[in-house]
Amino acid sequence: MSFAASWYALARSSEIGTKPKRLTRFGKNLVAWRDRQGKPSVMGESCPHFGASLAAGHVDRDGCLVCPFHRWRFDAGGACVGIPGSNVIPPTAHRSPMVTAERYGLVWAWWGSAEPRFALPDFPQYDDAKARSVHEFAIRTPVPVIVANSYDARHFVEFHRTPAAAIRFRAETESGKALEPVGIDTDAWCGSNAVVELPDMSFGEALDSALAERSRGQFMTTLSTVMGTWLMMRTANMRTIRTEMHGWPTGHSTTTFIDEKPKYALLAAACPVDESQSMLFGVMTQSHKRGPIRDGLASLVSGAQFAQHVGADVAIMETLNFDARGVHVREDRATLEYLKLYDKFVGRVDPAWLEGWPYEGRHLSLARKGRNGVQRASSGL
Ligand code: FES
Ligand SMILES: [Fe+2]
Repeated sequence: MSFAASWYALARSSEIGTKPKRLTRFGKNLVAWRDRQGKPSVMGESCPHFGASLAAGHVDRDGCLVCPFHRWRFDAGGACVGIPGSNVIPPTAHRSPMVTAERYGLVWAWWGSAEPRFALPDFPQYDDAKARSVHEFAIRTPVPVIVANSYDARHFVEFHRTPAAAIRFRAETESGKALEPVGIDTDAWCGSNAVVELPDMSFGEALDSALAERSRGQFMTTLSTVMGTWLMMRTANMRTIRTEMHGWPTGHSTTTFIDEKPKYALLAAACPVDESQSMLFGVMTQSHKRGPIRDGLASLVSGAQFAQHVGADVAIMETLNFDARGVHVREDRATLEYLKLYDKFVGRVDPAWLEGWPYEGRHLSLARKGRNGVQRASSGL
């Protein structure tokens, strides 16, 4: 199994309550619940007694998770604290909860070692936001394929037709602005910077270029991207849009600057369901202060654009294979840098921790394969 040691967004906060919830992540069935303080706990779902699903149990008034079968009780630390009919609690009657955090409307867990190897990425825009929206996608492809997509500046041009002859696009290598890590430990960071400029072009010319893409089966995406960008920039007399991305092995936060003023921010975090399927969570925020109705409306529009964009990507992403011996060009540099970072953190998985893991969660897949079916030497399993 070749998941990187990293922070993963497991679920939206609103999904986890005092009723135990089964989450299938990392090829395992997990159980998530909130203790008495409302803090989320996540651990393997199978009871250490006879393996009943703890997700079918309940949370008692002490905030303990109770197995539905013989009613053994487990506290938020995974320790068994009560066995009906027995005064003795065997020392091995426990589960090891994952290190969890709750931020940005999501419940996160660290996977790959007992202690996190880097801090949960910072996303201060969430607290400062005037409007927010959360989006969730199930994608039949491994996590690094999804995250790498955001570093692939050229696909925005050729696949999404972002400029469509209306917008000149410059990738980081040409924009000359070097990025420093923001909000992510340097060791776990990868970044990219892209600038879009608006040339002199009439509404009709922009519309023509958008409509010209009809045959590509991307009509709505192209129309909303090209016309949305044109309208936004022209009506507000803007000249440049710059997107600055700060990533960690399994996600990124990206801020959109309009004429160098931060306007929108996106936090994207992926999590494996198993070796070939993933979840992607996107939290969009915006810093406009134009009143709740206009801010809310703008948030809806940008959220819909994001959902449409990812929706268009999904069909292609499910066919990609980064393990194949690809041929690359200079523009692929950011994508390749990111994949190197991902692999570096596959190598940071603690083998001793991993060895205990299949016992903790019901093991759903017996295949000892890496992503896209290729055995990976650094997987540690
Ligand atoms: S199987 Fe859980 S208490 Fe017996
Ligand atoms: Fe895309």
